[in-house]
Amino acid sequence: MKGLMIVDNSIILREYHSEDCTEIMQLFYDTIHSVNAADYNENQLNAWAPKLKDNDIAYWDSRFLQDHAVVAEKDGIIVGIGTSKSAGYFDMLYVHKDYQRIGVATLIADRIEKYFRSNGVMTLTTDASITAKPFFENRGYVVIKEQTVETRGQLFTNYKMQKIHN
Ligand SMILES: CC(C)(COP(=O)(O)OP(=O)(O)OC[C@H]1O[C@@H](n2cnc3c(N)ncnc32)[C@H](O)[C@@H]1OP(=O)(O)O)[C@@H](O)C(=O)NCCC(=O)NCCS
Repeated sequence: MKGLMIVDNSIILREYHSEDCTEIMQLFYDTIHSVNAADYNENQLNAWAPKLKDNDIAYWDSRFLQDHAVVAEKDGIIVGIGTSKSAGYFDMLYVHKDYQRIGVATLIADRIEKYFRSNGVMTLTTDASITAKPFFENRGYVVIKEQTVETRGQLFTNYKMQKIHN
């Protein structure tokens, strides 16, 4: 995505810059340890989002730079991040814990889906958390399978979901 795109009166979608990385890592940590706490236990949350270390930044920065990251910003605060990979894979989607249910993820997902469509990719897939499943269902994604994945020794239920554009 090039440049800024003002999508409603106050939320801006823009491309990722390396200077965003620390703020996004904090968002990621805080959202998992509060919003996802509704669906996963403490051991799982600690494995999913361990305490931040300085050397995580370089790893995540290079991932965000590679993965077509879309950043949502409101009043100078980063309120959401979405990433995608080639071949229609919708990878990360995290909204700031204090900005839930105001349409941030919808704006990011609209932008990412449009990007796929404009590249001729009509089949979209994601691995949705229990928490995110209703969001994706609301956008027309269907569960292909429930799965158990392992991260840092913890097992997690999530859902392989798919949406096919006409
Ligand atoms: C899932 C998540 C990205 C949704 O972000 P959001 O900005 O709050 O979502 P939106 O406001 O765009 O929601 C759009 C619609 O999706 C549905 N929806 C979203 N969250 C929902 C929930 N918790 N329960 C039921 N429906 C939900 C609703 O239909 C909602 O419309 P409504 O608010 O008018 O009812 C956000 O809750 C989040 O960051 N979760 C934790 C991180 C996570 O699990 N990410 C996925 C990793 S795989």
